[in-house]
Amino acid sequence: MSDTNKKIVIAIDGFSSCGKSTFAKAIARRLGYIFIDTGAMYRAVTLYALEHGAIRSGIVDEEAVVRLLDEISITFRFNPERGASDIYVNGTFVEGKIRTIEVSNCVSPISAIAEVRHKLVAMQQEMGRKRGVVMDGRDIGTVVFPDAELKIFMTADPHVRAMRRYDELTAKGDSVSLEEIEQNVRDRDYQDMNRAISPLRQADDAIVLDNSQMSVEEQMAWVMERIERLV
Ligand code: DC
Repeated sequence: MSDTNKKIVIAIDGFSSCGKSTFAKAIARRLGYIFIDTGAMYRAVTLYALEHGAIRSGIVDEEAVVRLLDEISITFRFNPERGASDIYVNGTFVEGKIRTIEVSNCVSPISAIAEVRHKLVAMQQEMGRKRGVVMDGRDIGTVVFPDAELKIFMTADPHVRAMRRYDELTAKGDSVSLEEIEQNVRDRDYQDMNRAISPLRQADDAIVLDNSQMSVEEQMAWVMERIERLV
């Protein structure tokens, strides 16, 4: 690495359950950068909407969600044990509650609401203003930081991704079926790619990382080689 210590923005986009957050977190730790999981922000809004009656029986009341937006304050606090930041809504720790299948099933329609995206994108841009961030999401390289110095588009086989999420949830004691998870992964791929606003797509200048058959160590070697050319 050069000794100029140039700080860059690393944008990591891609399909759900590709291991984007694990990968982004590891890169941030290696570089001493801030890691921002933007999916957690959309999940936090979804959780709040569920808890405040704006989603009933899986049906999202868009107007009610928009009305709630002003009262939602999202913050991150660094948790040294996890080596990453935990997410809080109005000062309440919600990290554990935003990864349930109930939130996963409702997060795509919430993230398709223009006002929700507007608010969260502005927050994300502010958090990366000084560079030195690794941000993962769906629209980071295309909308949030189109000028990011390094853009990675992650993908993996849907079945492999469903198995990974299944292992993660069952390890936490959640009782879920692999079929339900795989259906959720495929549904979210479709919804994320086909929504009207900021659909998931690969930025023209992004490099693709298909990690279906790669270990975390192999992915790190792959990315560090590219980062070293840039900083
Ligand atoms: O990364 P994740 O699975 O935790 O993201 C949850 C949902 O949030 C995902 O279905 C799409 C949405 N999302 C988005 O629209 N834009 C982002 N930058 C990040 C996530």
